[in-house]
Amino acid sequence: MTIEKFIKEIPKAELHLHIEGSFQPELMFEIAKRNNIKIPYSSVEELKKAYKFSCLQDFLDIYYTGAGVLITELDFYDLTMAYFKACKEDHVIFTEIMFDPQTHTKRGISFETVINGIQKAREDAKEKYGIDSLLIMSYLRHLSEEDAFETLQESLPFKHLIKSVGLDSSEKGNPPSKFKNVYEASVKEGYVPVAHAGEEGNADYIWEAIDILKVKRIDHGNNCLQDEDLVKEINARNLALTVCPLSNLELRNVDILSNHPLKKLMNKGVKVTVNSDDPAYFGGYINENFLQIQKALNLTKEDIVELVKNSFQYSFAEDDKKAEYL
Ligand code: ADE
Ligand code: ZN
Repeated sequence: MTIEKFIKEIPKAELHLHIEGSFQPELMFEIAKRNNIKIPYSSVEELKKAYKFSCLQDFLDIYYTGAGVLITELDFYDLTMAYFKACKEDHVIFTEIMFDPQTHTKRGISFETVINGIQKAREDAKEKYGIDSLLIMSYLRHLSEEDAFETLQESLPFKHLIKSVGLDSSEKGNPPSKFKNVYEASVKEGYVPVAHAGEEGNADYIWEAIDILKVKRIDHGNNCLQDEDLVKEINARNLALTVCPLSNLELRNVDILSNHPLKKLMNKGVKVTVNSDDPAYFGGYINENFLQIQKALNLTKEDIVELVKNSFQYSFAEDDKKAEYL
């Protein structure tokens, strides 16, 4: 069996996926039309041409504009179902989906509308495709901690549907320490803490995420390589990284994929997983990430198996489910 076929067919888990970042241009246009919303691009092709980013903020500006057409429960359902369909094709059998409530509540869409649409899709995906999933509610770090507290409050009636809290959006200038109190409160409510750290921010951001927010996993985390002691600490605490190769390439965190730090991290004993982040914007779902990084770094079948095993091992699935997967 070729390594490409092996990659495509092996059952896998995805641990870093923003549902708003899975919004394909075709579906965006369809939903905009039914909601009578004008998008500032005349066609799918023109919109796709705008997907050229020089940094994280460039991307976020377009990502928030795109998410602005999501209004009804059905919109969130369709968005989420489309992602699950892609999961089925890529042999993803377990996925941890991040959603950004504030991207929607700040526009007047209720928390309930967002989560109900996503939740219905989760239930249908389980029934139709056999895919298990859980939810990570992400706070937007460019907003205030007070705003995040409001979101935490809004989430409480739906607590049984949410496993974890995360932190995303513009990293530089918005360090994890800004969210110390809301993370403490979130953990008290039973949410498992994770955070984006060390994507564009330096190693200090990762130190804060692990020491102050007490995260159980690090989203991206590539820049831990700036600090040998940090790498040791990440390994000592058995924290996995959810790495997103095509995202790192498209957001210019690496110049070419052959310079991507994934293998270097693995060689240092860091537990790495491969993920798509925002597949509609960065050129592919999880299999495309695996295929391109395998080729660029000449990864072996054993490397792929290790990465896939990590995705289950370091997931937040229940232990009995994990044992079933592994
Ligand atoms: N929101 C969606 N994708 C993101 C990323 N890669 N980094 C930070 N925030 C995000
Ligand atoms: Zn992300």
